[in-house]
Amino acid sequence: MHDESAPNTTWSGGLSDDISRVILSEETIQRRVAELGAQIAADYQGRDLLVVGVLSGSFLFIADLVRQINLPLALDFISVSSYGDRTRSSGVVRMLKDLNQPIAGRDVLLVEDIIDTGLTLSYLIDNLRTRQPASLAVATLLDKKEARVVKIDTAYIGFECPNEFVVGYGLDYAGRYRNLPYIGVLRPEVYAGGDK
Ligand code: IMP
Repeated sequence: MHDESAPNTTWSGGLSDDISRVILSEETIQRRVAELGAQIAADYQGRDLLVVGVLSGSFLFIADLVRQINLPLALDFISVSSYGDRTRSSGVVRMLKDLNQPIAGRDVLLVEDIIDTGLTLSYLIDNLRTRQPASLAVATLLDKKEARVVKIDTAYIGFECPNEFVVGYGLDYAGRYRNLPYIGVLRPEVYAGGDK
């Protein structure tokens, strides 16, 4: 996966200076999100769809995805914190914000930004299954298959992602870069510099 297109010109300078290479341009992301939305709309016709966004990384993906799903749907959010170092999760997960509503009997689509080890999602899936939804499926924008330590069934995948730390379009490093409209790889100097 390598998208040669340069960052949007309005983003030259500033945050973009920290990006060594763009792997998914804004246009490429939007095209794929539209395809996923159409596929989800076709699959969930006539069902009681509840889209659950995993905060914070999926906030842009969700916002774009739900506008491409031409069906009545409900939306909720869940937030978890995964302990680990800055770039790798440990599998020890703490619930920061739970859903606002019961999900028993509903068709739940869990929307993630990226699946890396799979540990965060595995915790969430186990947790949500105990609440007896009619169905539970996963959509992820990015899939880092190489890094997986637990198996996750993923119904919808935007893109396969190289085993590198990526930022932008919701994804952060140390809380920054979520507002980049594209996805890229950080320059190594940024990590070396520690907290910004
Ligand atoms: P997992 O539990 O290892 O699958 O990690 C999932 C979470 O770690 C994601 O929801 C992200 O918040 C974060 N994460 C994993 N890889 C990256 C990355 O390359 N960039 C930014 N965040 C990442």
